[in-house]
Amino acid sequence: MAETPPPASPVGELVIRAIAMPADTNANGDIFGGWLMSQMDLGGAIVARNLARSRVVTVAVDGMSFVSPVDVGDTVTCYAQLCRVGRTSMKVSIEAWASHFAHDTPRRVTAGIFTYVAIDAEGKPRAVGQS
Ligand SMILES: CC(C)(COP(=O)(O)OP(=O)(O)OC[C@H]1O[C@@H](n2cnc3c(N)ncnc32)[C@H](O)[C@@H]1OP(=O)(O)O)[C@@H](O)C(=O)NCCC(=O)NCCS
Repeated sequence: MAETPPPASPVGELVIRAIAMPADTNANGDIFGGWLMSQMDLGGAIVARNLARSRVVTVAVDGMSFVSPVDVGDTVTCYAQLCRVGRTSMKVSIEAWASHFAHDTPRRVTAGIFTYVAIDAEGKPRAVGQS
């Protein structure tokens, strides 16, 4: 079955911009998928924290696939959009895009849905936005 082509431009709020460094590579010399996920996780947490007005933790990541490699020196940007708010949880759709500074137009490299839970000082779930 043919896959839906990725969108031509990012969807959501710009939450992270970083340069992929040699320290972020895997054993093959390519940028490590875990580094990319951590950037996305951080970016989504900014959105979730602002809404929850509390600490948050990541409880799940869904529907993630890596569609294009990221090279050392690429500029990586993450865009986040809130999709759903539950009692204590928030689902944030996050896209990562990469571009080479000299010659590239940005390309979408991966996307996923990150679920965050608002927590209290003991690490227990608390209602989103509760004062
Ligand atoms: C997140 C955590 C506080 C939730 O605690 P819990 O006792 O399971 O809480 P609950 O069952 O009441 O669920 C709380 C909310 O999370 C949601 N949730 C729990 N597990 C989920 C999952 N796997 N996927 C999606 N949502 C989930 C629930 O639906 C609920 O949402 P709602 O309040 O909006 O209806 C707890 O599981 C935890 O601390 N996990 C570790 C988080 C962490 O360390 N993350 C970083 C990993 S490196």
